[in-house]
Amino acid sequence: MLKKDIVDTPIFGSNEEQRVAPKTELTKEGTAEDIAYQIVHDEAMLDGNARLNLATFVTTWMDDSARRIMAETMDKNMIDKTEYPQTAEIERRCVNIIAKLWNSPEAVDGQYCMGTSTVGSSEACMLGGIAALFRWKKRRKAAGKPTDKPNFIISSCFQVVWEKFAIYWDVEMRQVPVDMNHITLDPEQVVQMCDENTICVVPIQGVTITGLNDDVKAINDALDKLNAKTGWEICIHVDAATGGFILPFIYPDVQWDFRLKWVLSISTSGHKFGLVYPGVGWVVWKDKSYLPQEMNFAVNYLGAEVPSISINFSRPGNQVLAQYYQLIRLGWNGYHDVQASSLNVCLYLREELKKMGIFEFFTDEMPNPLFIWKLKEDPNRKWTLYDLSDRLHIQGWQVPAYTMPANMEEVVIMRIVARQGVGIDLADLLMKDLKACVAELDALENPTNSAEKWNKKQPQTQSCFNHVR
Ligand SMILES: Cc1ncc(COP(=O)(O)O)c(C=O)c1O
Repeated sequence: MLKKDIVDTPIFGSNEEQRVAPKTELTKEGTAEDIAYQIVHDEAMLDGNARLNLATFVTTWMDDSARRIMAETMDKNMIDKTEYPQTAEIERRCVNIIAKLWNSPEAVDGQYCMGTSTVGSSEACMLGGIAALFRWKKRRKAAGKPTDKPNFIISSCFQVVWEKFAIYWDVEMRQVPVDMNHITLDPEQVVQMCDENTICVVPIQGVTITGLNDDVKAINDALDKLNAKTGWEICIHVDAATGGFILPFIYPDVQWDFRLKWVLSISTSGHKFGLVYPGVGWVVWKDKSYLPQEMNFAVNYLGAEVPSISINFSRPGNQVLAQYYQLIRLGWNGYHDVQASSLNVCLYLREELKKMGIFEFFTDEMPNPLFIWKLKEDPNRKWTLYDLSDRLHIQGWQVPAYTMPANMEEVVIMRIVARQGVGIDLADLLMKDLKACVAELDALENPTNSAEKWNKKQPQTQSCFNHVR
């Protein structure tokens, strides 16, 4: 191989492009900037087109100004509040605005609400759960009671973060089964599972697997009666990873938030329907008294004590700035219109799928811009939703097929999430491809058994969400 002068060599005439990129150890010499860029850029091409990923809730489109803001500010570390006081101030404004959307009693002029940005909902859920655990421990210790058997209650459609919370913090996760009779978290069963060791109940707004909302008001009312009878103070952390930015705009009258007595903390993903690229999340407490002192690490900046609550120390500040950009760019009406359009796209897709006559739907409800469906029973059909998912993948679409959680694990479903960037035209193209895939599969004598292939590929763990984010 000729040793060429890197400066004058075209990228694809270079030595570097004539060998595979390092995979296990660092090379002695570096690579020219444009060639290194090309290698990484080209490898990332294999990921496919994020816009066609209908599996994800996470933002895949932002406007050019948002991208510019993010690019200009990606050198800011969120945790350096002294060095970047304006970014810290903007984080506090975002917390205030979000707290007001969730009807926080602290959201009054001139007052800062209690909350923080995080890297996503996982960290935000974790913080809400830890606060509930610490508050419960404090009450138990004050009463001279043991603190070694905490538990929390959630539906069997939980997202994997709650399994992590249970394991990391040694808190028993009590699952209320979801089935066709109870398609969301059943308040009666919640109450039956509660005891003096229950640190909190976690209803989900925008259940990952079904898209439905647990009935927070009914759970609040049931807990209110239980707490009055027993003297327990079982509270609610709402995991609103999806719904936190849908409910305030589409269903402002539904009571799921701080208007309810026992809702003491709420978390959401800024990078889902907050409409920001990954990763940013938010957690807010009803008021300062619900954040245990031990979790509040004060950082001194500009003469003021600023709370540092997040688990991660360093993380990008540009996502927080991008969140603020979206909040001021879109305003209430903009968020409403974007979320309503995404819901509309889902309605359109569901109607088109219905017309095909071969699919069944879990429920007619669709409070969030996502829905699931399954194949109608047909003994003559030789293919599964896994096969359909594979076929769509060949066309570039990522539409996952997976099984429901415990009690319904034999049911294979498909899910679509529509978000900003998925319009009716794209949805129409998806339907054309989907119909063509179904026709192809119907015509095949022996469709490939994608279910078997898929099951071999995936590690089997307790969680049904390995491939569902
Ligand atoms: C209900 C729920 N909670 C938590 C999470 C975790 O969110 P993140 O990916 O922002 O950490 C998700 C992700 O889909 C979710 O759906």
